[in-house]
Amino acid sequence: MINIALLGYGTVGSGVVEVLETNRESINKKAGEELNLKYVLDLRDFPGDPIQEKIVHDYEVIANDPEIQIVIEVMGGVEPAYTFVKRALESGKSVCTSNKELVAKHGAELLQIAREKNINFLFEASVGGGIPIIRPLNSSLTADEIDVITGILNGTTNYILSKMSDEGLDFDSVLKDAQDKGYAERNPEADVEGYDACRKIAILSSLAFGNQVDYEDIYTEGITKITAEDIKYAKAMGRSIKLLASSKKIDDSFYAMVAPCMVAPAHPLFSVNNVFNAIFAHGNVLGDVMFYGSGAGKLPTASAVVADVVDAAKHLQSNMMTFWSSKKLELADIKNASRRFFVRVEGDSTKVAEIENTFGKVELVDAGIAGEIGFVTGVMTEADFAAKAEKTTGIINRIRLED
Ligand code: HSE
Repeated sequence: MINIALLGYGTVGSGVVEVLETNRESINKKAGEELNLKYVLDLRDFPGDPIQEKIVHDYEVIANDPEIQIVIEVMGGVEPAYTFVKRALESGKSVCTSNKELVAKHGAELLQIAREKNINFLFEASVGGGIPIIRPLNSSLTADEIDVITGILNGTTNYILSKMSDEGLDFDSVLKDAQDKGYAERNPEADVEGYDACRKIAILSSLAFGNQVDYEDIYTEGITKITAEDIKYAKAMGRSIKLLASSKKIDDSFYAMVAPCMVAPAHPLFSVNNVFNAIFAHGNVLGDVMFYGSGAGKLPTASAVVADVVDAAKHLQSNMMTFWSSKKLELADIKNASRRFFVRVEGDSTKVAEIENTFGKVELVDAGIAGEIGFVTGVMTEADFAAKAEKTTGIINRIRLED
């Protein structure tokens, strides 16, 4: 029997208990031994819930119990999760977590401790919820040099953008509706400002490139400035607007960015809608590959956590090497990255000559909106675009293109 402890009985924690109960027999068979949930750490009590008899309020009980071999951390946030997880690893307990803040900030260090102790620190659920992506990057794709990872990594924003597109609604009313239905948090900042996607692409980039990518270094723009009019233009161009989190290796430089983009219809991420997530990658020998599925939610996330527990149970005394060093990867300044831009400017057709004088030849886009001009630039660097935009009066919005 392998004893495990669960830190946090919130949405994901209760999902973990549900998955362990629902699939008890097959999970035990796959783990090779019976998994016994011995403790659940939470500040609260749950009278009437069968879990109550396992509830402890003091982490010391778990930390000091030599019978506990695997700790599941699903509390979220950096502290006290970091202190608890580090202590568990240092005392020889493997850890499985869904906590992207923790993994993005301390992943390299926690993996190093797990390596030294010959145990495991696993975090499949920290990116893409139930979508297998961490394990593929660590095993199935290791023959490749990954040069592109582009993901729709946040379900809340993908739901909002899909609904804005389907129903022609503006951002604020869709956000309110999503909050009322419980699809978006009461405090939606981490999702709508792109911070959640930023941490996730930092984790994927660190794994793909092998060195620490600090999320603070990643240029991040959310979706709060996207309007119903922008969506009309995207439709007129046959494109969809998606919050893309991407990292690319171009020659010897690494670029990473989170920003809403107008995605071309031929791109595999074009039709990833609603709460679904997807991760597109390109490897130098494999070519293109994409992972798609439920990127959030209680049971999909719990499914990935429990799969990690099974893996940890199968490798109790052997570390599964993960290629992520603490050496910092210096990202190139995105000012030097090149792409096309879609721009909306106040005015009428008499303004086109002035626009082309500044931007060079542009493609006009007609979305039937009076009083403004929509156009797409040629390929230029971010710095070049910013300088040209500075010279242009009446810019309403600009959105990057992803081809
Ligand atoms: N808030 C996240 C999302 C949950 O909307 O995708 C999963 O990390």
